[in-house]
Amino acid sequence: MSTAIDQLNIGMRIVRDRTKLVPGIGLILGSGLGFLADAVDGATVIGYGELPGFPVSTVEGHASRLVLGYMQEKPVAIMKGRFHYYEGYPMERIVLGVRLLARLGVKLLIVTNAAGGIRRDLEPGDLMLITDHINMMGSNPLMGTNPDRLGPRFPDMSDAYSRDLRKQAHRISSGLGMALKEGVYAGMTGPSYETPAEIRMLGRMGADVVGMSTVPEVIAAAHSGLSVLGISCVSNLAAGITDKPLSHDEVKETAEKTREIFSKLVLSLVEKIELEKAE
Ligand code: HPA
Repeated sequence: MSTAIDQLNIGMRIVRDRTKLVPGIGLILGSGLGFLADAVDGATVIGYGELPGFPVSTVEGHASRLVLGYMQEKPVAIMKGRFHYYEGYPMERIVLGVRLLARLGVKLLIVTNAAGGIRRDLEPGDLMLITDHINMMGSNPLMGTNPDRLGPRFPDMSDAYSRDLRKQAHRISSGLGMALKEGVYAGMTGPSYETPAEIRMLGRMGADVVGMSTVPEVIAAAHSGLSVLGISCVSNLAAGITDKPLSHDEVKETAEKTREIFSKLVLSLVEKIELEKAE
């Protein structure tokens, strides 16, 4: 079994054989926003199956491609389709893509997801900037030996969701006449949705939304020295907040309805956010 470093070296070679583009911005697009990857100019598309160690997403609606090209005239790398812990992959493989983005030159990572709203003012369709997370997955992608060239053994997580980038994002969204909420994301393993008791617990712990992704990627991003902007689309009210049972269909439906304004926001962020301010 090759190590993450070997896999990254080979992955780099495969990408670099196809394109010399150096992406400053990386995007990991969750449910519903994958179509943005189809709109990049001068796209180089590499199937995850071509990259060693990359899992192939098993979730319906999550295509599996790395796309490099220009979005709003900015060089970007997009992971169209992401991996979830509940799919059964080890954490180290879930974060391989983030590490490859960092090696390719990404400095700023935009991650999007769909999440269940816990805080009472959150409604389906809301877009929320993630201020912080609570890792409830019972694991961490950095466990095991730490190859020093990937990052520090004990990375700081106190500004994992860059305060400065959030400030910029609020300014940019106001310019679009769009209000963004803010809150804390709790990452659960899934794949079962939470019980109402778990949601009450998460709310008391300080979580505002809950989902099954993002946390491993953001830990790996912090480890790799990337600045992160995280955005949740509140796709449903979390279990027990209403009497309504949860369903993946509802999540997909809301993601679909929000798609236009969410994609408008992401495009505007890519266009206007300033990397040099991301430190
Ligand atoms: N719980 C966990 N993950 C989710 C939810 C939820 O309510 N909605 C979308 N992803």
